[in-house]
Amino acid sequence: MTTQAWEAIGPTSDALKQLSKNGLTINANEVHIWWIHQSVKGDISLLSSDEVSRYQSFKRDAVRNRFLSYHSALRIILSSYLSVQPDKIRFQFNEFGKPSLLSQRLKFNLSHSEDWAVCAVSTGQELGIDCEYNRNLNDLMTVAHEVFSSDELDKLRQFDRSKQHHYFYNLWTIKEAILKGMGTGLSYAAKAISVNQQHLQSDISLSVPGHGRWWITQLSSPKCFYSAIATPMKPTDVSVFEFRNRA
Ligand SMILES: CC(C)(COP(=O)(O)OP(=O)(O)OC[C@H]1O[C@@H](n2cnc3c(N)ncnc32)[C@H](O)[C@@H]1OP(=O)(O)O)[C@@H](O)C(=O)NCCC(=O)NCCS
Repeated sequence: MTTQAWEAIGPTSDALKQLSKNGLTINANEVHIWWIHQSVKGDISLLSSDEVSRYQSFKRDAVRNRFLSYHSALRIILSSYLSVQPDKIRFQFNEFGKPSLLSQRLKFNLSHSEDWAVCAVSTGQELGIDCEYNRNLNDLMTVAHEVFSSDELDKLRQFDRSKQHHYFYNLWTIKEAILKGMGTGLSYAAKAISVNQQHLQSDISLSVPGHGRWWITQLSSPKCFYSAIATPMKPTDVSVFEFRNRA
């Protein structure tokens, strides 16, 4: 697979107009969102030896193949901004496992759930993304107790079942996007991030104890998915694309 073997599908935007064989550009504080379906053809020759080891460690074919699709696409997407070959990209990881590009201003974060992955790309500022497939959780309240504050749990109890799901997934994706932006994962208590109704109605920032303010943008997503990004500053523009292999 080469960098020319894929195409971006999305609304007409400046970013897409700039898409050419010379690569992709992104302006300061813009965010590009790339949805990647599991059917995207992966290429093991693009992966690092660590990635190949991870790929081989998955027991289930479906999980292994998804990993290959998502990580091949991630490398191709990033390579298009960096103008380097996808297999030449080097990652580093923080103490909680958050990957970043070695000595590059380009920032990215990846999330996956079921048959889709989503990659957010930005320049200059850190970012986190989460996507969740809306599966019917029978133990929704039990899970919520682990990560929701008492105010959030009170609110959750007021809703009927279908609204509960909607509220649950919105809060979950917002909190996880912030945890991923901070790079801490669950080593930071998700309960300490307090999301209220205002945050769900409009894109606004919220304060995270010890970690400053994070701007939340909820994203349009494939059917049955919820997703959000978190950035320290409000993005000037958020463009959404789908990554596809060229037919
Ligand atoms: C990595 C982590 C932050 C999220 O993992 P996850 O639930 O599998 O979520 P996602 O699919 O959104 O993200 C996985 C990707 O995030 C990236 N990632 C890994 N560690 C990360 C970290 N510390 N911070 C940000 N991103 C990270 C990787 O690219 C990873 O992809 P890969 O496994 O294919 O390499 C995990 O450490 C974690 O804390 N999981 C808990 C989930 C949870 O209970 N959330 C509660 C919501 S309030």
